[in-house]
Amino acid sequence: MFVHQGHSGCRLELLTADGQSVVRKSTQSVSYGTRLRRQADKQEAFSHQTRLSTISAPPVLSIEDGNGGFSFVMPFVAGLDGVTFVQRSSRGEINALMRQLLALVDDYLDQCDWQAFPRETFEQKLIDIGDKLKTNMLLSKGQAQGAMREVQSVLAALASDEKLPVGHCHGDLTLANMHTLLMGDQLVLIDFLDSFVETPLQDMVKLRQDTRYMWSSLLYRGQLDRVRHTITMRYMDAALDTHFRQHNFYRKYYPIFQQVSLLRVLSYATRADIVHHILNCLEHNFTHRTEYER
Ligand SMILES: Nc1ncnc2c1ncn2[C@@H]1O[C@H](COP(=O)(O)OP(=O)(O)OP(=O)(O)O)[C@@H](O)[C@H]1O
Ligand SMILES: [Mg+2]
Repeated sequence: MFVHQGHSGCRLELLTADGQSVVRKSTQSVSYGTRLRRQADKQEAFSHQTRLSTISAPPVLSIEDGNGGFSFVMPFVAGLDGVTFVQRSSRGEINALMRQLLALVDDYLDQCDWQAFPRETFEQKLIDIGDKLKTNMLLSKGQAQGAMREVQSVLAALASDEKLPVGHCHGDLTLANMHTLLMGDQLVLIDFLDSFVETPLQDMVKLRQDTRYMWSSLLYRGQLDRVRHTITMRYMDAALDTHFRQHNFYRKYYPIFQQVSLLRVLSYATRADIVHHILNCLEHNFTHRTEYER
């Protein structure tokens, strides 16, 4: 039996059930169990969607919820993870992947309600992240406070006169959490995550956390041609950003959502090089925040 410990602390086991290869994802943590249940619910709901014929999620085959923790079982997806895919693919195949990603975000957008910017939810989220940052021993007090101060100043200065689309999203739409089949023509999503605001903007932010800030490649376990990867990420980032900029809400709120997303991953960072990288990304995003207003 193959066992893998994910970055989220979950355990992934490759098993055989009724002659089929399946993956069991589990946690023994009570608090993470609640999140993993929401993940299974989101994944199961998405697996039933029929609007997007080339994008899917593995169905949840079974769930166990008890004293031993929470787990769910899904079919094994025999595709290429997103980082490996972009490493090996031609421009045409990368364009095919981007068409899928844009169709996904557009579809989530089509189903949204438009709501006022949730300032109080933001403020609460920042308090939670601030508390978590204090527990990360890899961060000095000054670094944590500096990063928090920057995001608070962006929030304070934000004229939240633009409505935000709220509805559904994947929640952690990174290259590591997607598998591609048929050279980019089919996309299979895994590792859904509940988000503090369920908005497709969160998916735009997570995509650019990879294309602009190289997140998934930092955690990639295989060999990577970093030069080729960086060139591909720049190509994808320009195309995604151009597409997203047609939306006023994106130009208004992308910088602050990106800042919060980076702070959140910073609070969980377990490597000094990753802490260093995210602090640079925070600084970069903060410095360039006004470019979206034009
Ligand atoms: N159904 C599946 N079929 C094939 N591979 C899977 C499946 N589920 C998970 N994996 C593999 O296991 C890895 C970790 O799974 P997942 O993303 O759900 O957990 P995680 O806690 O985020 O772990 P990590 O931080 O390592 O990504 C995935 O990136 C993927 O390569
Ligand atoms: Mg993952």
